[in-house]
Amino acid sequence: MAPLSKVALVTLGVINGANAWGVLGHATVAYIAQHYVSSDTASWAQSVLGDTSTSYLANIASWADTYRSTTAGKWSAPLHFIDAEDNPPTTCNVDYERDCGSAGCSISAIANYTQRAGDGRLSSDHIAEAVRFLVHFLGDTTQPLHDEAYEVGGNDIKVTFNGYSDNLHADWDTYMPEQLIGGDSLSDAQTWANTLISEITSGSYKSQAASWIAGDTISDPITSATRWASDANALVCTVVMPGGAAALQTGDLYPTYYNSVIDTIELQIAKGGYRLGNWLNMIYSSDIAKRDLEDFVKQDQGTDSAPDLMGRDLLPEPRPLSRAKLARAAMDGSCCGSGKRDHAH
Ligand SMILES: *[C@@H]1O[C@H](CO)[C@@H](O)[C@H](O)[C@H]1NC(C)=O
Ligand SMILES: [Zn+2]
Repeated sequence: MAPLSKVALVTLGVINGANAWGVLGHATVAYIAQHYVSSDTASWAQSVLGDTSTSYLANIASWADTYRSTTAGKWSAPLHFIDAEDNPPTTCNVDYERDCGSAGCSISAIANYTQRAGDGRLSSDHIAEAVRFLVHFLGDTTQPLHDEAYEVGGNDIKVTFNGYSDNLHADWDTYMPEQLIGGDSLSDAQTWANTLISEITSGSYKSQAASWIAGDTISDPITSATRWASDANALVCTVVMPGGAAALQTGDLYPTYYNSVIDTIELQIAKGGYRLGNWLNMIYSSDIAKRDLEDFVKQDQGTDSAPDLMGRDLLPEPRPLSRAKLARAAMDGSCCGSGKRDHAH
């Protein structure tokens, strides 16, 4: 049994490229969101995406990872994370002006695609692109190592997990979630989503779910997304590497470390889905539903008052490249050291 399952894991790693929450995590976030969107939001998203199936968000949840690995999509690689230049495990914090590079980051991207998804002047292809990016990036922000510059978000922390040499980032994205669920198909994701939805509805998350979205407003997406990134980034100090990185490199992360973090992984996936559902509802009710009503007002405003739809006004002032940003640039668009799992034991 062991050799067979190991072969399967290696194959999955190669296919997924170990980017961001893996396919399983992103699809689970999407299914949770599907549960929390209103029926109007759902119909809007289904028509935008041209998919009326019961997996309309899950089907596109990992599109952004596929896209960034193409030549045409390479520009979007920095949008999957924000490189918080903090000092874990001593200090963790996100500073948008300091940490979001001039090519953009997850926070500026969420702001950009929030504006774009709700803007009726864009073509349907661009609206669909915005929704696909939002579904993915709201998930990415809840993965603590997507909000961390240290060792390129843990990509350069070589560790052993369940007998395999890989890196800490890939273990968080993909291998620990798959260890928990036992696969990465859409039906695995749906099952995991149902479990987490019941925790939100009536279980251990019930009392905290409101706090996950407290203050979220699409009129200030930078502040909202910075709060999500800060929330996950704090976990780098407290849960991901409370004893520093070296402490994770002395033995196998399975089972002791895995057991110490798996509840947090579940919590973060649940947050991502709950926030995404709420965020899409807000885009729908603030922008889409009101548009017909306000169309005549907008026409009178002229283009001067319109936001820059390329999002240039959302980016922080350019700064000289820090060491962390140089290290990230050296990875040349790929998120993970090897992009596939090291076979060495
Ligand atoms: C906003 O989205 C457009 C379309 O994908 C993209 O070309 C632009 O670079 C984005 N801007 C930011 C700040 O992410
Ligand atoms: Zn990603």
